Amino acid sequence: MVLVAPSLLAADFRYLQQQIETVEKAGADWLHLDVMDGHFVPNLSYGADIIRQLRPISKMFFDAHLMVAEPQRFLPMFVNSGVEQITVHIEATADLHPIFAYLKEHRIRCGVSLKPATSVDVLRPYSDEIDNILIMTVEPGFGGQQFMENQLEKIAAVKKMVGHRRITIEVDGGINLQTAPLCVKAGADVLVAGSAIFKAENPAEVIKKMQQLGEVK
Ligand code: DX5
Ligand code: ZN
Repeated sequence: MVLVAPSLLAADFRYLQQQIETVEKAGADWLHLDVMDGHFVPNLSYGADIIRQLRPISKMFFDAHLMVAEPQRFLPMFVNSGVEQITVHIEATADLHPIFAYLKEHRIRCGVSLKPATSVDVLRPYSDEIDNILIMTVEPGFGGQQFMENQLEKIAAVKKMVGHRRITIEVDGGINLQTAPLCVKAGADVLVAGSAIFKAENPAEVIKKMQQLGEVK
């Protein structure tokens, strides 16, 4: 099965509720929520208060991607925002163990994200705690960038490392109907797509086509 996670960053923020309803009705599995702090990445987006306000309008799985320095400082506000999963960048913190312990205590799925230059070896100390691995296929910070083909090898390496464990492999950045099949073939379970879904004439069709990639897997 392949899950599709529209990235809200690419939505038309004048019609936020309507945009969320559109992707939910179209059968999107997760709603991907990009949080940026202007330090870890050179851009700002939105935070826990806005996510908490959006929570009641959707039943989708809320997937928070924290592109922030020192993520531990922000965890209390995010665990209370109604998200089901929190993914932090391994480059943003010296030790993920206390972060994962805190998330587990709050029954939130534990995610770890890798920037394009980060090797999969950094995951080894955490392999028993991780629920989700987010592989960035662009430099984090902005939507609408070009997919980095050289990350396909990393997806395959992560897939090999994960084996039959119940860990989801998520890919994020430049995912569209051309690049999604390559990622699924390499082992991705969750496709994050911003521009390819929200800027599409028919978002439902894009979501369906991406989900169907799982049927031939
Ligand atoms: C980039 C974000 C992505 C972004 C993807 O830093 O993590 O989630 O919104 O946007 P597209 O799909 O347009 O590359
Ligand atoms: Zn993201």
